[in-house]
Amino acid sequence: MIDHRRLRVALLGAGSVGSQVANLLLTQASELSERAGADLELAGIAVRDVDAARDVDLPRELLTTDAESLIVGADIVIELMGGIEPARTHILAALNSGADVVTGNKALLATHGAEIFDAADQLGASVSYEAAVAGAIPIIRPLKDSLAGDRIQRIFGIVNGSTNFILDKMDREGLSAEEAQRIATDLGYLEADPTLDLEGYDAAQKAAILASLAFHTHVSLDDVHREGIENITADMIDGARRAGFTIKLLAVCERLEGEDGESISVRVYPALISREHPLASVHGGNNAVFVEAAAAGDLMFYGAGAGGIQTASAIMGDVVSAARRHIAGGVGVGESPRQSLPTAPIGRIMTRYQVTLEVADEPGVLAQISGIVSEAGVSVATVEQTPSSDAEGRAHIVIGTHRAREQALSDTVARLAESDVVERVVSVLRVEGE
Ligand code: NDP
Ligand code: HSE
Repeated sequence: MIDHRRLRVALLGAGSVGSQVANLLLTQASELSERAGADLELAGIAVRDVDAARDVDLPRELLTTDAESLIVGADIVIELMGGIEPARTHILAALNSGADVVTGNKALLATHGAEIFDAADQLGASVSYEAAVAGAIPIIRPLKDSLAGDRIQRIFGIVNGSTNFILDKMDREGLSAEEAQRIATDLGYLEADPTLDLEGYDAAQKAAILASLAFHTHVSLDDVHREGIENITADMIDGARRAGFTIKLLAVCERLEGEDGESISVRVYPALISREHPLASVHGGNNAVFVEAAAAGDLMFYGAGAGGIQTASAIMGDVVSAARRHIAGGVGVGESPRQSLPTAPIGRIMTRYQVTLEVADEPGVLAQISGIVSEAGVSVATVEQTPSSDAEGRAHIVIGTHRAREQALSDTVARLAESDVVERVVSVLRVEGE
């Protein structure tokens, strides 16, 4: 039954996602009101420049630069401005004035999530953020609700579409990093500040949000070990392909058991994935997230990780839920109680590695390298040497290890780098998904 008192919806931002959300609110009003149980009235849209060109034509009279006034009296505030300020201040003001909040702002939640969720809890309001991780893919609600009774061991996957697009172009079309990045830029895949994507910040923000939900612990961006794709070269992609791997920028959130109790590891880095693994088939700007839960087993979530209209779908799902809650009354569904699990340093993780060294192509070199590696307690699984093709007689040796602790591996790499026989450590890549 529809409640005809109407809910006032304030939209902050009309960029790629916001303009599509506004369009859906305006063009699908009657269907949405049936689903939400009340009319959703778009009260206004706050932007920086009311005359700026938009992806979608929006009624001029709805646009305003006065976000503060728009928030007053709103039942639902949709924040799609991005960034930390003024988004943070507007969200807190919205909660304080009794509104439920819907946002896609991963940067804000990964840094000020605790403050915002605490405010919502105290005020009995809800903050929904399905769009903040992996765009259109429903992953927040499954973690928060569907899997709330399970014990999540590990989440890993591709949560940044633009870097996946770049790595995929390099892998499938043999492009250089610069060429692939140029195409990604031309297609509008990269953030306005491309370092957010290329250096792994965007993926790390999403990893922090996923880990917070999975482990019922507040995880912020500072807790995430982050490496980006800026050092991945066409040669590395080529070497990975020859060894049966592809390189993907992965987010990994993992529960670790130790003598001193449980901890968690949250990390983002480019890693080798077997070409047989389902993640190897995630092409272009798509995202995929694997969840390993004690009772449910392995679950995979796949689809569009970005895009205005795709992300608007996730926003609208949250808007309909927020409207239903607003009509039903009662307090919002808060974040789950905090367990406060400590974050383990990167040195604690265990995985396989592939280390590529440039060496002099001379007798005895391989034996010396094997000696250094085994002395450090890292077990070698494979060694491959590519014959020297340069005039100076240098060859590449690729060492694949068995599972080893990161600290032992990095100590080994440091000793290799210092040894007389190694000219250069070309790359060190982790192997994931095994
Ligand atoms: P855009 O940069 O395209 O749009 C931002 C909008 O916010 C613009 O309309 C801008 O106004 C407005 N805005 C920014 N700052 C202010 C301000 N100080 N006062 C008033 N208005 C302001 O962002 P997106 O639509 O791409 O992203 C929105 C949010 O959704 C971000 O948090 C992003 O991380 C998230 N997200 C985006 C995805 C995507 O595919 N784009 C996917 C998943 C999440 P004006 O137009 O006048 O400049
Ligand atoms: N820059 C992000 C990406 C946008 O490439 O995935 C979606 O969050």
